[in-house]
Amino acid sequence: MKLLQGKRVLLCVTGGIALYKAVGLASSLRKLGVELKVAMTPAATKLVSPVTFSSVSGASVYVDEFSVHSGWIPHTELSRWADVLVVAPATANTVAKIAMGVADNLVTLIAMAFQKEAKVIVPTMNVRMYSNPVVEENLERLKARGWTVVEPVEGSLACGEVGKGRYPDNEIIVDAIAASLLPKKFRGKKVLVTAGPTREHIDPVRFISNRSSGKMGYALAKAARWYGSDVVLVSGPTHLPAPWGVKLIRVETANQMYEETMKHFKGSHIVLMAAAVADYAVGEPVSKKIKKGPERLVLELQRTVDILEEMGNQKDSQVLVGFSAETHDLEENAREKLRKKRLDAIVANDVSRPDVGFESDENEVVILTEDGVLTIEKMPKIDLALAILDFLARRFDFD
Ligand code: CTP
Repeated sequence: MKLLQGKRVLLCVTGGIALYKAVGLASSLRKLGVELKVAMTPAATKLVSPVTFSSVSGASVYVDEFSVHSGWIPHTELSRWADVLVVAPATANTVAKIAMGVADNLVTLIAMAFQKEAKVIVPTMNVRMYSNPVVEENLERLKARGWTVVEPVEGSLACGEVGKGRYPDNEIIVDAIAASLLPKKFRGKKVLVTAGPTREHIDPVRFISNRSSGKMGYALAKAARWYGSDVVLVSGPTHLPAPWGVKLIRVETANQMYEETMKHFKGSHIVLMAAAVADYAVGEPVSKKIKKGPERLVLELQRTVDILEEMGNQKDSQVLVGFSAETHDLEENAREKLRKKRLDAIVANDVSRPDVGFESDENEVVILTEDGVLTIEKMPKIDLALAILDFLARRFDFD
């Protein structure tokens, strides 16, 4: 992800039992090319040594607010240095202190002095502590002051209890960090995204599908969320985790995708149809497994509904964006779909190339509108998704 390269991230860690997982976060951030520094509370150093953080991430680690050298005052210098402040994991104690303006150790002093907008906090604790109204109130206070709160997840906790309080996947925290650095140019916009393949059943154990991994659609859903919009993602079967902050609706068939997307279509400002919807389905899937028979088996397929075309017929003010997977005559075929489905833009890519497109983490596309063509060179799908949204914001005046 290009967005995080060279960004200055100050990771503040506190004494929650999930702290060892934040070592992985430090390591991931380093791999993403961020400039990282780490600050620890005294309690955190009892659980994980500063040496561990420094070794895995190459970051300088700070613990003592009194370690002033030649006028270099840790909390003022570090808070000035950072582009983004991340507190992960944050104990109930640190959440309360930051919410109430207590500054009694290096981490809380930094939080007090930090003035930029990008600040992320990840509360993790026992489920009974997390559901205590005082924690809820403190988190609301932080949200009101512009903190991005990444909620803990449900599951078994270190204390043996089960409930909400677990440290989320580091990938989710990285997403929240990226989001905190972006302008909210799509604030107030509702964005509907489709992703992945569909599966058309032949019998209970067999289906027809395609090679779409869903990566491009999930990247678009993430990017739209990072730019501040409300995102509904209708996804065919994929192996991808639910993107942070996105409402995910999982479907299997083209027909189910049609039903779910149409529920959200009218209320959407932007529709990004990245799914590889099957054009044909078995007319009558059978309820029992088909047994092996003679040499030939003929399946009769019927056309599925063209969801995008239907949207094109029904649209009023929505910006409707199609995706076009082509193996030949890319621009010509895409322009024909743009016209036929009454789209505002179409994003076309060459799926015959092995280095981009289906299953790949990178893509190269051409965006066509009524009055122009824009080529976006090969790049990671998340960066491409941001570039596509930048284009739409400019072209359709969302900026
Ligand atoms: N699409 C759709 N419903 C379908 C088929 C396609 O909504 N039943 C949408 C896709 O999500 C994509 C666009 O239409 O945004 C173009 O899909 P593509 O498969 O490239 O084109 P088709 O219209 O199916 O035409 P062809 O397969 O002949 O290229």
